[in-house]
Amino acid sequence: MLYLNDREMRKAVGYDEMMDAIEEAFLCYHQGSYHMPDRYTASYQNRKMLYMPCFAKDVIGTKMLAEFPENPAKGLPYLSGLMILNDQETGQPIAIMDGSTLTALRTGAVGGVAIRHLSYPDSTSVGLVGCGVQGLHQLVYACQVRPIQECYLYDMYRKDYTDFIERLKEMTAFRHLSITVCSNSREVAEKSDIILTATQAQTPVFPEDPSLFRKKCVVAIGSWLPDHKEIPDAIWQTTKTVLTDLPFACEESGDLCQPLQKGLLHQEDVHYMADFLYQKNSGQTPPLDETRYYKSVGMGLFDVMAARLIWKCAKERNCGQILEK
Ligand SMILES: NC(=O)c1ccc[n+]([C@@H]2O[C@H](COP(=O)([O-])OP(=O)(O)OC[C@H]3O[C@@H](n4cnc5c(N)ncnc54)[C@H](O)[C@@H]3O)[C@@H](O)[C@H]2O)c1
Repeated sequence: MLYLNDREMRKAVGYDEMMDAIEEAFLCYHQGSYHMPDRYTASYQNRKMLYMPCFAKDVIGTKMLAEFPENPAKGLPYLSGLMILNDQETGQPIAIMDGSTLTALRTGAVGGVAIRHLSYPDSTSVGLVGCGVQGLHQLVYACQVRPIQECYLYDMYRKDYTDFIERLKEMTAFRHLSITVCSNSREVAEKSDIILTATQAQTPVFPEDPSLFRKKCVVAIGSWLPDHKEIPDAIWQTTKTVLTDLPFACEESGDLCQPLQKGLLHQEDVHYMADFLYQKNSGQTPPLDETRYYKSVGMGLFDVMAARLIWKCAKERNCGQILEK
């Protein structure tokens, strides 16, 4: 059995390969060639344990994550966990890898796929609200996909951006970036062609101003609970459609269930990335509004397909540590 830590996982796999694996996951989703039970969440005293098993292609994977909201105040990551891969035929464990690294790499790649297909190709600026683990990876993939020169950051709670900026520069060494810390989220949105959000916000992180979103690509990956929401209702004055991962997102995320309840968004205007990519792969050009909005809540199929790629690349490239039984 192969054990892969954060460093070995990052050494094993490249960003483009990871985005291709996520596109493959969307196509498996479209074909229905997987089995993904609903995510099981065990909560106790504001702490959550999330269990996400999924059967896909030639592997079975289960990601287990701990989501502890009090961790950031202790200087610890909000999310931690493990991914276990089992052989499809025998059920034998074949790999264990770091669950937070997997989450960050695959969620970054999901955002990257959205940017690949939805953003304007000449986008040169990206803005992020929520400068944490996922936000960092969203930025890195955005820089991989588009010729980004300017990057704007805002975080409601972060006082010191030094580590974040150092890590961002290290991970985007392939681009020369001008990085600006903004004094508010309005400034981020005004200056950015691509707008990213990766927070645990309960109320929208931007003001109710449609001009902030018009003709932009907005990728929102945080706030996945029904009473949480990152994007203001003003966005519905610039687009009537949204792309998301799966139908459950409409129940799970306040960014979708709240505008659906208010009648600002209609169910027939919620589209799925898997269908969109399938249409594109079959030579069609699915229509896009001027403002492109993608809301992701994630799914186990992303994890298992991303973990499968990391495991395959690690074996080919001699990464990781073999654990004896
Ligand atoms: N869509 C997916 O597949 C997926 C995957 C993993 C995590 N997530 C979600 O992404 C979010 C971020 O996760 P993370 O691991 O990066 O957490 P994190 O704690 O590392 O980063 C979140 C950052 O957002 C900031 N923030 C919180 N509320 C804010 C607000 N109102 N305005 C501005 N900044 C704010 C925090 O200060 C923090 O720096 C969580 O909601 C998590 O559940 C989604």
